[in-house]
Parts: sequence; structure tokens; C-alpha cells
Amino acid sequence: MAFTYFFRDMQTLELIRDNCLKSLVSRQRIKIWDAGCAMGPEPYSLSIIFRENVGYMYFRNIKIIATDIDQSQQFDKIILDGIYPREQVERIPKEILFKYFVDVDGGKYFQIVEEIRKSVSFRRHDLLTLKPIEENFDLVLCKNVLLHFSYEERIKVLTMFYNSLNVGGFLALEQTQKIPNEIENLFVPIVSNAQLFKKSEINVTKR
Ligand SMILES: C[S@@+](CC[C@H](N)C(=O)[O-])C[C@H]1O[C@@H](n2cnc3c(N)ncnc32)[C@H](O)[C@@H]1O
Repeated sequence: MAFTYFFRDMQTLELIRDNCLKSLVSRQRIKIWDAGCAMGPEPYSLSIIFRENVGYMYFRNIKIIATDIDQSQQFDKIILDGIYPREQVERIPKEILFKYFVDVDGGKYFQIVEEIRKSVSFRRHDLLTLKPIEENFDLVLCKNVLLHFSYEERIKVLTMFYNSLNVGGFLALEQTQKIPNEIENLFVPIVSNAQLFKKSEINVTKR
């Protein structure tokens, strides 16, 4: 089973909230691609961060498409149900847990509330096909996935992300993931303490 947990990289989530959300809320809707989402804690953590910061009316315009190659063939159901064993939610701050989860089966499991579940959909997808699931994303989040790929594959996948982002869109990677020199003109770093970028507005020919 893929390694992941709720609010795994709180620093990046907070930087997304502070640097991306403010510039995106002027849009009619926010479309996010969480690529390599595992069984859901990452897209659900992001959704909760967004919900904490926008009203319920606007929140309905936020859609997260979570994708994974899903070798276990189980992510679809896990994400759809949004039910996680107690051990997987124990580290979540209590005020967030009580607000966004309900206990199931006497507290052995916790289910994400419907409002948050409805903001996340799941599709099985192999990034190495280099075919984006859709276009016009405002944010692509891809964490702890590219490290499994070769250098050349990373260049191709990151270029695919570039092409799938709207003008003014954002890309978030894990702390240790650098943009290869060959394509560094595609993304502009927007903070010094995380791998958070804005799509470059220079006229880059579609690759
Ligand atoms: C370590 S998990 C990362 C989960 C989450 N992003 C996080 O950081 O907590 C890596 C995920 O990448 C997925 N993955 C690996 N190769 C992939 C590919 N070619 N296309 C899509 N997902 C892939 C795995 O199935 C796994 O769920």
C-alpha cells in the first residue's frame, strides 16, 4: 500500500493556502489535479485546507481530480467512501477531526463528511502515458511520485503538467524535488522554502 497520511506536508499545504488560494479565489471555479494521490489523505487534506478558508457557497466551485496508477485497484472505493481506520486519523488535530470526520463503527473508523468528499473525484491514470487527464488546471499537486521516475521521464511529466495548467496556474512538488535545468523556464518559484511554482508566462512553445 502506498505510503501517505493526512496533512503529510503541512508546510506546503499552508503555502498553497497563503500564496495560491488568494490569487485563485477571483476565478469562477478552481480545478486541481492531485497526481499520485494514493488512497486519498492528500487530496482530502487539501480540500479541508481550502474549506477552512472559503465559504460553503464558493467551496462548491472547487474540484479536485485525484489520480493514481493504483496498482492495488482499491483507491477508487477508498476515496469514494472516504472511510479510514482510526490509526490513520489519529495525528489529525482534534478540532479538524471533529469538524470534518464522523466516527463509524464505534470509532474504529472515521468517514470524511460529504461536503469534503464531494469535492474530490478519483480516476485511475498512469502519468507515464504523458496524456493529461484534462486541461485548464489551476493547481497541479504531485508529491513523492516523480522520485520513482527517471530524469528524462520527470522532464516529460513536468512538461505535461505545464501544458495542462491555466495561465497563472500553480505547481506543487515535494521539498526534495527540483525542476530539471532543461525546463526551468517553464515554472517560476514563488517561495524560497518549498517547491511551489507558478506557470511561467513567457511564451514557451508547446512541447
Ligand atoms: C508515496 S505515494 C505518494 C502519495 C501522496 N502524493 C503523498 O505524497 O503522500 C506515491 C504514489 O505514486 C503513485 N504512482 C507511482 N507511479 C505512478 C504513475 N506512473 N502514474 C501515477 N501514479 C503513480 C503510486 O501508486 C503511489 O500511490
